[in-house]
Amino acid sequence: MSDKVVLAYSGGLDTSVAIRWLKERYNLDVIALNVNVGSERDFSAVRKKALNIGAVKALVEDAKELFVNYFIFPALQADAVYEGQYPLAHALSRPLMAKLLVDTALKEKASAVAHGCTGKGNDQVRFDVSIGALAPSLKIIAPAREWGMSREETIKYAQRYGIPVPVTAASPYSIDENLWGRSIECGVLEDPWVEPPADVFTWTRSPANAPDEPAYVEIGFEQGIPVTLDGQQMDGVSLIQHLNQLAGEQGVGRIDHLENRLVGIKSREIYEAPAATVLLQAHQALEAMTLSKDQLRFKQKVAIEYADLIYNGLWFSSLHQDLAAYVRSTQRYVTGTVRLKLFKGGCRVVGRKSPKSLYSYGLATYDKGDQFDQSASPGFIHIWGLPVRTQAQIQGVEEVK
Ligand code: ARG
Repeated sequence: MSDKVVLAYSGGLDTSVAIRWLKERYNLDVIALNVNVGSERDFSAVRKKALNIGAVKALVEDAKELFVNYFIFPALQADAVYEGQYPLAHALSRPLMAKLLVDTALKEKASAVAHGCTGKGNDQVRFDVSIGALAPSLKIIAPAREWGMSREETIKYAQRYGIPVPVTAASPYSIDENLWGRSIECGVLEDPWVEPPADVFTWTRSPANAPDEPAYVEIGFEQGIPVTLDGQQMDGVSLIQHLNQLAGEQGVGRIDHLENRLVGIKSREIYEAPAATVLLQAHQALEAMTLSKDQLRFKQKVAIEYADLIYNGLWFSSLHQDLAAYVRSTQRYVTGTVRLKLFKGGCRVVGRKSPKSLYSYGLATYDKGDQFDQSASPGFIHIWGLPVRTQAQIQGVEEVK
């Protein structure tokens, strides 16, 4: 009996070829594991395909709920967005896939795990670092990083062994999808000057063709977690799916990012992330109402660190645990409702309310009912400006020419 390897199987060309290649090169029996994190596909067809190519076992794991509750929502609470643009859909899914690969390998007594990443991207780092943290004794094999075949050679290899070449292999783009977003790379997009052609987008309508009437949506949060949509209680998976539909229809969520990969490459990335765009904006609006100025300032710094560590594959680090504990603590009073207007590709917050709001009408108003004691301001300003006056008297003021 041969040793076993558990392969993270997407059903695409590379991982399909990998089933055959792992047997040929390493004499390993392949257990194909497809992790469903919310891409639309026929999972029984994916299973059958793996078995037809020669996998000894093909498993499909529905991980949507795990993905939402343990990865997406904590990242939302942290406001984690890489380089101010990328909501991290793909970076968040890899540690979850790594965890499920490892669990399966231990259960099936496999000696190795494998994934379809190349040697140029971030995903290989996320897989390898996560697997190494969870099960250091497992051997990690990345066929596409080793086999040295070009795209054409991979297709030839597939044809030689009767491995079906998916139509998507004919598409010039490389695509990855899950609940939190869709990424599109390669083809003409590799020229950063070229506007993304219409055919790269499938989740979002072109803003020009979006409805002429705006759509309004209300998101209810409890402690930083979205729990209602337009007043209706909803589980996380459904809420995100609904929002992807609704906001995508309005052309919301297109992102064009010249991104700094961990391996040092700048790469042009197109994303569609309608739900993520809406939820991140809504969440930040509610934080603006329920957190103090100092909490907000500090949390913004944490958000950058948090996003970087997710991007860089450090999900299973202690630093992540520490930051997550801080973020959870900040969310105690981030409860309330945010109203957004979606129109022609734009998403704007137009209303917010919270039982724990720090906004005080009595303090803010210029109308009658003003509770702010204006007579206290001169004394406050006298002290506040003291160091500036002192320095100006002694050292002068730089003149603006
Ligand atoms: N650039 C993004 C990231 O590194 C998206 C990667 C998508 N992955 C893929 N295999 N196509 O997170």
